[in-house]
Amino acid sequence: MSVGSSLPHDGARLHVTGQARYVDDIPTPAGTLHLAFGISTEAHATITAMDLDAVRASEGVVAVLSADDFDHMPDCSPSIGDEPLLALGRVHYVGQPVFLVIATSHLAARKAARLGKITYDALPAILTYEAALAADSRFEDGPRIYTKGDPATAIDVAPHRIEGSIDMGGQEHFYLEGQAALALPQEGGDIVVHSSTQHPSEIQHKVAHALHIPMHAVRVETRRMGGGFGGKESQGNALAIACAVGARRTGRACKMRYDRDDDMMITGKRHDFRISYRCGFDDEGRIAGLEFVQMTRCGWAQDLSIPVADRAMLHADNAYHLEHVRIESHRLRTNTQSATAYRGFGGPQGVLGIERVVDHIAHHLSADPVAVRQVNYYADMRDPVAPAGVAHDHVTSVAGDPLSRGGTERSAAPTSAKPASGQTTPYGQTIEDFILGGMTERLIESADYAARRAAVRDWNAKNPILKKGLGVSPVKFGISFTLTHLNQAGALVHVYQDGSIHLNHGGTEMGQGLFQKVAQVAAASFGVGLASVKITATDTGKVPNTSATAASSGSDLNGMAVKNACDTIRERIEDFLRENEGANEIVWKDGEVRFAGKSMAFEAVAKLAYENRVSLSATGFYKTPKISWDRIKGQGRPFFYFSHGVAITEVVLDTLTGENRILRADVLHDVGASLNPALDIGQIEGGYVQGAGWLTTEELWWDDAGRLRTHAPSTYKIPCASDAPEVFNVDLWDGPNREDTIYRSKAVGEPPFMLGISAFLALSDAVSACGPTYPALDAPATPERLLAAIERARG
Ligand code: MTE
Ligand code: MOS
Repeated sequence: MSVGSSLPHDGARLHVTGQARYVDDIPTPAGTLHLAFGISTEAHATITAMDLDAVRASEGVVAVLSADDFDHMPDCSPSIGDEPLLALGRVHYVGQPVFLVIATSHLAARKAARLGKITYDALPAILTYEAALAADSRFEDGPRIYTKGDPATAIDVAPHRIEGSIDMGGQEHFYLEGQAALALPQEGGDIVVHSSTQHPSEIQHKVAHALHIPMHAVRVETRRMGGGFGGKESQGNALAIACAVGARRTGRACKMRYDRDDDMMITGKRHDFRISYRCGFDDEGRIAGLEFVQMTRCGWAQDLSIPVADRAMLHADNAYHLEHVRIESHRLRTNTQSATAYRGFGGPQGVLGIERVVDHIAHHLSADPVAVRQVNYYADMRDPVAPAGVAHDHVTSVAGDPLSRGGTERSAAPTSAKPASGQTTPYGQTIEDFILGGMTERLIESADYAARRAAVRDWNAKNPILKKGLGVSPVKFGISFTLTHLNQAGALVHVYQDGSIHLNHGGTEMGQGLFQKVAQVAAASFGVGLASVKITATDTGKVPNTSATAASSGSDLNGMAVKNACDTIRERIEDFLRENEGANEIVWKDGEVRFAGKSMAFEAVAKLAYENRVSLSATGFYKTPKISWDRIKGQGRPFFYFSHGVAITEVVLDTLTGENRILRADVLHDVGASLNPALDIGQIEGGYVQGAGWLTTEELWWDDAGRLRTHAPSTYKIPCASDAPEVFNVDLWDGPNREDTIYRSKAVGEPPFMLGISAFLALSDAVSACGPTYPALDAPATPERLLAAIERARG
């Protein structure tokens, strides 16, 4: 059975043998030209003169374009049209594209791009939270505020109060494959674009707009990305538009890929946040009232900052039931790269905000941080939905699709196994599927938390220099795009007369394993092996109007759309078999179709159906049910369901140097009934390490002139394989999704990222062993920040 099996990633062999084709590997037509941007060296300035003679004279240069060369400057923004492809008289950050070089080779274009002489008249640059607030430099009119209950009073009358603030840095995506696009001019002014993008439809839309042609004249294809992590939702627009414009003007194919430094200087990153809090609580640490002020530097253009900041607000509760809470969010406009989507999309920042609060409470009360978490958790829905052992045992290949009609044990699982607790989130969504209580109990048991807590205490009592720390953090992550209409997907499936299956859908592959999972769904629908299913590149000419592969919903949405298409074809064949072959019950299994006492190979059935003029091609469609959301009021059900996880991390910290290691991490994660446990565990491990990297070694550092000085791996440190925890135990929680998702699985792409918070909390715990004062550690916890925190702890 293909669904639920740990089959390898479809690209695994191709990746390791170097055969996997990325945009830069696609053979190009003779005469292909190469592009590079000349970029701004000022954070905010008027351009008073531009001398591009040396650029034009440089070897291999075919054309140089700047604002003067356009009647209508193409726009690259995914939201409000505030990102001209090339600066229009004013620059807004160091790294902004000012002119475009088109040359005969990649190197020639890059060399020439360095030769522009631009004269600027500097304007005041807004770089910090303080400066942005003082200048009221923001997106939207004022702060967005969600309130529930009466937090001010609840805090004031509570037995204990704390207040504080945490700074958390942004994060460079550091996809191994940088941004890349290739535009191929076609007859009659049409264009084909290959783009390393999570969002082919958006590339199509923006290219059509830039060239003033209908979307039908643009076809975008994406076979795979070498990582996206949110950085390829909107940040590929500029390259694709530049290539399309170049192709239109020269009549030749145009390709652009950013060198790593350019990629880091030009493109947006994770939003950095400062979150301040005021919290009242009782002797057990139960939160009575809580107020958050979230500030984020969005950079120069709006991009996706509004939904990112919204998601930070929507995750300010994380796993905790808050009766009285106020969340105020400031989306500040600054003269820096336009911050963008990054795994978790603001969720991690919101979650870290409340994890800091809970950690601070535990420190204040000298209580165990796990106990403080547990008293604040939402009420658990403990009833096992399915009997143990059936989680990955699918009996789905029976005609009539029992899963969607409630015919199997698993799908018969009532969503109302236990009445809902009636608890609501700060934004009014009723909690129906909380399971972190049970998950946490199981993990503290399996990770031997109590004994290790005691051992860490003993170690710290004996060792003056090396201090150990334990951190525990849960995550509850909302699944669905908060912009409701994005929660739709399409698919196109063909069965050929030889029984082979051509599979296409609107999702993109960035390493997360989406194509493999969806292929498993298609194979299961027809009861055939994976070898029968051909995974094909995402193509706007096959499936239109797609959403970005984002919000972790790739397999939820596209898996369902593909299943829908497969069901349509299967039902057509079944109707034919019933009418003409005396079939009654029909079973699709092991590459065979069984009916009326006989068994036919799937290929034979396909051939028979074809010869009897049964249509073997179908589109599929899916839209997520139950969701509705008013983002201005901050009320509704933005999420179809939640994915959960919990992690325990142990670290050791050298208090003389600030150096540290993760010694062990234990993770229990909820992926519902996994479509592919191996891929899911890969996502969990990768997410954890990337999350830990965000909060420890990865530091974006801008100087006073607004120049990002950590723009290469020499200064920007992502975790290596050797930085993964030495002991890394990852387990999957075995309960299926209570909601009717594709085979009752759950989204897994982003939620585990937040488990890396446990590493940060473990470091804070180790610092706390140095003295009595709460260390109020900021992120990333670089050695410098750790040493400063140690001094604070000592008082
Ligand atoms: N895993 C890999 N290997 N590479 C990636 O770029 N992106 C993450 C996550 N896991 C990413 C990844 C992000 S930001 C998202 S939203 C999801 O994958 C998107 O894919 P999915 O919806 O299919 O889970
Ligand atoms: Mo992921 S940040 O939603 O691409």
